[in-house]
Amino acid sequence: MTPQPHLDTQCVHAGGLPDTASGGINSPIYTSTAAGYLDRDRVPYQRYFNTPNQAAVVQKVCGLEGAEDGVLFGSGMAAISTVLLTLLRAGDHAVLQEELYGGTHAFVAELFERLGIGFDFVALTPAACARALTPKTKALFLESPTNPLLHVMDLRGVAEVARARGVTTVIDNTFATPILQQPIALGIDVVIHSGTKYLGGHSDLQCGIAVAHAALAAQIRHQACHLGGSLNAPSCYLLERSLKTLHLRVERQTANALCIAQFLAEHPAVARVYYPGLTTHPGHDLARAQMRGFGAMLAFDLRPGRTSADTVQRRLRLIRPAASLGGVETTICAPARTSHVKLSGSDRERLGISEALLRLSVGIEHHADLTADLAEALD
Ligand SMILES: Cc1ncc(COP(=O)(O)O)c(C=O)c1O
Repeated sequence: MTPQPHLDTQCVHAGGLPDTASGGINSPIYTSTAAGYLDRDRVPYQRYFNTPNQAAVVQKVCGLEGAEDGVLFGSGMAAISTVLLTLLRAGDHAVLQEELYGGTHAFVAELFERLGIGFDFVALTPAACARALTPKTKALFLESPTNPLLHVMDLRGVAEVARARGVTTVIDNTFATPILQQPIALGIDVVIHSGTKYLGGHSDLQCGIAVAHAALAAQIRHQACHLGGSLNAPSCYLLERSLKTLHLRVERQTANALCIAQFLAEHPAVARVYYPGLTTHPGHDLARAQMRGFGAMLAFDLRPGRTSADTVQRRLRLIRPAASLGGVETTICAPARTSHVKLSGSDRERLGISEALLRLSVGIEHHADLTADLAEALD
């Protein structure tokens, strides 16, 4: 049997389309939204999620995630909402990790009741998961590491508990990327990415993807055709091109993040650093066991009374205050005002997302320039 190529090789080579017109080595971009049907069983159509450019990206991400098939979307939220609406109907129940991307939290909190779907947000250890599942539970949704506090979940443990009860598990793997974490190998059923972040990687593309085993991916595609959140061909091509450097970007970003976390951990203006790569982080051993690296997202609390999150962000020269993540440039945000603004104040307080919390998405610049910028802003 031919050995499976390394992830680096798959980033470059998996899923390309042949260019028979010119012999060029890049995938052609097929833009038509009308295609002849007389001699075809299946008409390619963007909102049927079956175009060649969509398939090229799906194949690449499936190679990286160890999945059989997938569906490419116009945003991460289109992927998340479509997958949840595929798995759940009125009368069902879902268990979700309590610390989630704020948009996912808001989608569930605002829509599920209206749709007649029960839900519980839980701090998802395997034991808590076992307690939270009911005979009506059909889906379990989690992130790891979490947004914004980088908690690490025991993916194998949670997947085992859910599988024994016939519950489908879904992970938002945006923060880790398939370069650092392959949840399907740990027993998770569906892997979702906001491709807007690391997969796209250049802060210029909105997209999302869900991958799974073939039968489940077919169900998701079926539902997606009703909901319609598809991605057009030029954007598919941009994503395919970005994925060719995913491994290089993530490796460099991860190395930079460790340098910055160590720098912040020593800084007197910083009360606490949240980064799984620090040995002091409660999820360090688990992350070491289930990830290939600790990722490029980190967060830190400012020490009370010294400076404010707003002041620090305004004093930075290189690091850009911005509300997204995963790009080649280092960005910073206050989750209480950005990613988690839709949560109630009491929910944010309970989860530990204070006004003094700053979240860094570390880029590919030289780490010394980044720490110098932070030093100047914090001192
Ligand atoms: C972890 C995570 N998942 C999902 C999303 C939603 O992705 P999108 O903005 O592409 O819809 C985000 C957006 O910030 C995110 O941070």
